[in-house]
Amino acid sequence: MKGTRERKREHLEICLHESVEMERQTGFEHYRFLHEALPEIAPEDVDLRTAFLGHQLAMPFIIASMTGGAERGLRINRHLAAAANKLGIPMAVGSQRAALRHPEARESFAIVREEARDVPVYANLGATQLNRGCGLPELRQVVGMVDADGLFLHLNPLQEAIQEGGNTDYRNLAERIGDVIGALDRPVLVKEVGAGISPRTARLLADQGVAAIDVSGAGGTSWSRIEALRSEDPQRRALGLGFAEWGIPTAQSLVLCRAELPGMPLIASGGIRDGIVAAKALALGADLVGLALPLLAAADDSSEAVQEVLLRFARELRLAMFLVGARDLKELRWGQHLVAELP
Ligand SMILES: Cc1cc2nc3c(=O)[nH]c(=O)nc-3n(C[C@H](O)[C@H](O)[C@H](O)COP(=O)(O)O)c2cc1C
Repeated sequence: MKGTRERKREHLEICLHESVEMERQTGFEHYRFLHEALPEIAPEDVDLRTAFLGHQLAMPFIIASMTGGAERGLRINRHLAAAANKLGIPMAVGSQRAALRHPEARESFAIVREEARDVPVYANLGATQLNRGCGLPELRQVVGMVDADGLFLHLNPLQEAIQEGGNTDYRNLAERIGDVIGALDRPVLVKEVGAGISPRTARLLADQGVAAIDVSGAGGTSWSRIEALRSEDPQRRALGLGFAEWGIPTAQSLVLCRAELPGMPLIASGGIRDGIVAAKALALGADLVGLALPLLAAADDSSEAVQEVLLRFARELRLAMFLVGARDLKELRWGQHLVAELP
């Protein structure tokens, strides 16, 4: 069985060079903005600033967890972090599991805090590690590695089930997460990786005291497909392809979680591919929009390329807000600007 570092290298290769997105959509296509021919504002009135877990941000975006590790991971993280700092948005690093065991992988995480000095940085670990002997000392270590403002625990039961030797022990995990929240002196956030969070799971997490939830729904990157593409075992491959479209579409997961938890900070990620879709997510109750795959190729190139992608999203979001007459994100959210798309 391959080690964590080799697996991560393969994930990057596959995400950069193969088709890893779902064919089904995010659900945002069922909504359309009510265009206002008389918006009664000028584009320069639109204010994208927001606050998230006590931090002031220039725009409602977060760079979602992706990577770390040697060489390529280090370069990608450096470019992402520099862009986050330049644009005033937070960044979450990829899983730090390998770095717990391999000190040489730590530099690729430390570099993130070095580059992103002025914005929130979030650590990342698989929640199932809590069922595999990972305790408070290890959690403190991953948080310390990036001097994190909080810790993302990811839930990825589908991916782990397809991956050879994946960690599928989800027994009593909500309670374990609760124990961590009680003991760690930083906020704990929880995310999926592209299959969505149901209202029941959201409630379980809220009852444990999580600080925020990233629904990371279906419609974007498919980790079942990625694991299928990696696998050399025909049965495993067939299983992964069979579940490649599985999950709660991002829009649906967001709407259901928002109805269940009106006050919970929510991030919408999973298939957000332009600023109009980002605007729809914010109008439906997301506090931030998370991007992973759309930033990957740019991050392999340069910080400027990452900034370019994010600035395109910002331009599109700003124009959508102008065209519905929303001066700020509160007006976008509470203005009832969305209607159902015509059948
Ligand atoms: C190359 C790559 C690596 C990722 N690695 C992680 C990870 O280590 N931890 C995690 O929580 N999510 C990871 N994700 C999942 C993303 O954070 C996100 O939840 C998911 O890809 C959906 O967003 P997208 O459709 O914009 O890619 C990764 C995504 C990509 C594309």
